[in-house]
Amino acid sequence: MNADRPLHSRSSARRPGKRGLVTALGIGAIVLSLVACSSDAAAAKDPVAGASGATSASPKPKQKPKSTPTPTPTAAAFNKAANSVDDPSSIWVVVNKTRSLNPANYAPTDLVYPAVTYVNRQPMRAEVANALVAMFAAGASESQLQFSVQSAYRSFAAQTSVYDQIVDTKGQAQADTTSARPGHSEHQTGLAVDISALPASCSLQTCFANTPQGKWLAANAWKYGFVLRYPADKVAVTGYSFEPWHYRYVGIALSTELHNTGVETLEEFFALPGGTTYH
Ligand code: DAL
Ligand code: ZN
Repeated sequence: MNADRPLHSRSSARRPGKRGLVTALGIGAIVLSLVACSSDAAAAKDPVAGASGATSASPKPKQKPKSTPTPTPTAAAFNKAANSVDDPSSIWVVVNKTRSLNPANYAPTDLVYPAVTYVNRQPMRAEVANALVAMFAAGASESQLQFSVQSAYRSFAAQTSVYDQIVDTKGQAQADTTSARPGHSEHQTGLAVDISALPASCSLQTCFANTPQGKWLAANAWKYGFVLRYPADKVAVTGYSFEPWHYRYVGIALSTELHNTGVETLEEFFALPGGTTYH
């Protein structure tokens, strides 16, 4: 016996009898089984083809695209540096008790008087005027509401007069909760407008928030580029008590971003200091 040759190889090579027949039957069974399995698999993959009564005309499943799927487009990030928050002529300038206007006696160069109703005939910057006219027109056409400009641009000298008058009547501590010191007022930028109802109702009072005009402005002013600058719940941030009549123009891009993000103040949005005390 040759120890190098496997026993079963020698045996099957010499006698392909009964054992060979069994092997052949076994292979045949495996082949049949594989054919059946592949049919089952095809039926499982294609429920239409596997269904009773299906014909060869049944639609074939579409092949998945082999290329990388296109990513869902996302909105471009808002560019917080698109405009200056320091330049007093920027529509994004942030002015408060910590951030004075620079120069303190800044005056805009494009003041105009839009064709609206005034309580005090005061101008505003041209871009603000256009937005205000559009907003007042929308309030009238959508909700039959009329508005007036209570006040708008105030020079350094005019703000001095307003502030000093309140200090004289109410004392400085009280004045500082409602009136900005000269060089610190948004009114000096020509971007702020105090809006009243027409006919007058709750002018310059917190109850203006409950008038139809006050409610409409609170809901719609952002569409025209304005923000309610001194919300009731942000006194510690803005430094001033609730002024539902004081709207600040910042442009539609920023007002929309503030609306969409739910950020209420410019200080919070730009991470800038504010607060109730002067520094
Ligand atoms: N009433 C606002 C704070 C101003 O005087 O500018
Ligand atoms: Zn104001």
